[in-house]
Amino acid sequence: MKVRLKLNESPFGPSPLAVEMAKKYAEFSNLYDVEDLREALIKELARYSGVDEEKIELFSGSSHALSLLFIYAKASNTPITMPFPTFHVLYGLADAYKIDIRDVPLKGKEFLLDEEKLLASSEGSIVYISNPNNPTSNMLIENEDLLVRLSKRARLVILDEAYYEFSGKTFSNLTFELENLIIIRTLSKAFNIAGARVGYTISSKEAKQLLNSLRIGYEVPVVSQALALGALRDIDTMKRTVSYIIRVREETMKKLLDIGIHTIPSFTNFLYLELPCECMKVKEALDENGFEVFCLSEVSRFKKPFERSMRVSVGREEDMERFLEKLSIWAKHLQIF
Ligand SMILES: Cc1ncc(COP(=O)(O)O)c(C=O)c1O
Repeated sequence: MKVRLKLNESPFGPSPLAVEMAKKYAEFSNLYDVEDLREALIKELARYSGVDEEKIELFSGSSHALSLLFIYAKASNTPITMPFPTFHVLYGLADAYKIDIRDVPLKGKEFLLDEEKLLASSEGSIVYISNPNNPTSNMLIENEDLLVRLSKRARLVILDEAYYEFSGKTFSNLTFELENLIIIRTLSKAFNIAGARVGYTISSKEAKQLLNSLRIGYEVPVVSQALALGALRDIDTMKRTVSYIIRVREETMKKLLDIGIHTIPSFTNFLYLELPCECMKVKEALDENGFEVFCLSEVSRFKKPFERSMRVSVGREEDMERFLEKLSIWAKHLQIF
């Protein structure tokens, strides 16, 4: 089996408590929903996020909440303002739904947010910001002032905190005062249950109602809810995963810089690399050596300016060592670096 470093998954399996809970609840899968389980999960998510239960809503992965917001954009004929580049799957959705995207290009090698441009473009639109940003791995927003200003101009402000556990920075407290702010989170990354497809939002009651009006309901399977509850009740496993990934990420970054590959400080479970040659060539060579990575140029909108850009998930220490070994042997062989 290849080492998959292209989807920003966790290299570790779910916590034993999560698996135990899933086994316990599997026999209730004749039901669409088990009320006590759902309530317990929402309660646990609220406690974990430091907000009231009424602010939490469950989705089938955070992708599900994002899809609904794109449906809303389409239905209400609202453009979407996003930093460029950002989470690549969203461009596919925008093209398919024919939604007008207002790109706000990130600035320079460090991918800084152009706040004034973002504010100017945000008027009457839905603003989407991934914080930290996928694929650049950096924080785009550090202070709440910008979010307050955006919320006054935009129809909705979507703050995607998929990598919150790795950045340690959240703006969830702002959902108490900003009715049109929706924070999106996932249990796919730090909680090791991407395959369960569990995501959640933190928002005002009004924003929650809007999201719920766009769905049929019962999309999160009983077994997935049980896995999520078990994972949340075993916070130590999550914390261990996060500190392991951060340690290996920092070591990997240092070694990449040693072999002359540009990368920027990451606040996620992946690294953004800038190679001195086309990414697809390196990808093919890595693939032959058992490593799957993501080249930004695989996405048509990213092609031109990002031909040399690669996104690599942080995996197990031994896999990252082998990955670096292959990368540097191949690079030396071709005398590229
Ligand atoms: C920024 C961002 N948002 C959302 C997602 C989707 O996560 P989920 O597994 O919860 O659908 C990802 C996954 O990589 C992501 O990077």
